[in-house]
Amino acid sequence: MNILSIESSCDEMAAAIVSDGRVVKSSVVSSQIDLHKKYGGVVPELAGRHHLELVNNVVQSALDEAGMTFNDVDLFAGTRGPGLSAALLVGCTAAKSYAYAMGKDFVGVNHHEAHILSVLLEHENVEFPFVSLLVSGGHTMVVIVDSPGKYRVIGETIDDAAGEAYDKVARLLGLGYPGGPLVDTLALSGNPKAFNFPRPMKDDPTKMSFSGLKTAVKYAVRDNEDAKVEDICASFQEAVIDSLISKTRATIEVLNEEKLKTTAVSIGGGVAANSNLRTRIESLAKEYSIRALVPDKAMCTDNAVMIAVAGKVHYDLRGPDGLGVGIDPGWKISDLS
Ligand code: KG4
Ligand code: ZN
Repeated sequence: MNILSIESSCDEMAAAIVSDGRVVKSSVVSSQIDLHKKYGGVVPELAGRHHLELVNNVVQSALDEAGMTFNDVDLFAGTRGPGLSAALLVGCTAAKSYAYAMGKDFVGVNHHEAHILSVLLEHENVEFPFVSLLVSGGHTMVVIVDSPGKYRVIGETIDDAAGEAYDKVARLLGLGYPGGPLVDTLALSGNPKAFNFPRPMKDDPTKMSFSGLKTAVKYAVRDNEDAKVEDICASFQEAVIDSLISKTRATIEVLNEEKLKTTAVSIGGGVAANSNLRTRIESLAKEYSIRALVPDKAMCTDNAVMIAVAGKVHYDLRGPDGLGVGIDPGWKISDLS
């Protein structure tokens, strides 16, 4: 089964062709980073309008790269949510329109579920339940994946997402956008103990917070004129990752207390491309003698391959969606089952 998938929930317009939810025939990602750079973040209306200009070309490029035409596609998948309305509308409507025109099925995909299930592509024989840490520019949560399509959100941020904190800290350090990769690189040559930034809500496994951390960095910059930017980046990153790891550990404990054996721990979302987080997740898995499911870096940031993988899982579980189904900008994965 050849699946043509479209992702446009934020500032990436992406299309891919994946056979049987496992074999990647093509993957095209058109980033709008340069367009939004000068604003220091994504401007929803601009993203939507630009997606509209790009969508047909990106889809055609995915077909060309796979050596296919629309006639070879068996199923069309599009991201329905969560995300920016103006952006989601373009990709989801395009996927439905192609399905209608070609007389083929359509399936609407949850963006978060796609990040979580992306590990199925690269890892054989994934068993359930496992714990997934989902960290992106829009969301930060730790989820128990009981089975495909069945998710329990255990810990969640009460304010900024971790990626958002990276982007805001990079902006106040004058580094550029998106901040994550830039802070990640500078942190490699900094001292993570140079500043003791807060790790809030240490004792509550259900909550994370990153907005106070951003403020603490702001004051550290103001009060320490000679501070090395590398040290600020490394200390900030250490605080973010300590919080993420402690909530992931708490969620593994929740599953273990339920006497359901945790089989693995996974990461997904843009921040999962962070070199330090990847190493720390591997260590956490070792500590519990479970598998670490760490996707390739290109699979962590937004792409359409993961939409095809999740689309196939959903199609097998529930069949196609009707073409009347709309976008859902606030779609929670806990509402899926
Ligand atoms: O999943 P994603 O591509 O888009 C959303 O759905 O939000 O995540 C983008 C976020 C941005 O905030 C970016 O700064 C962050 O992921 N990011 C990173 C790294 N690469 C991307 N954060 C930390 N370290 C990285 N290496
Ligand atoms: Zn994402």
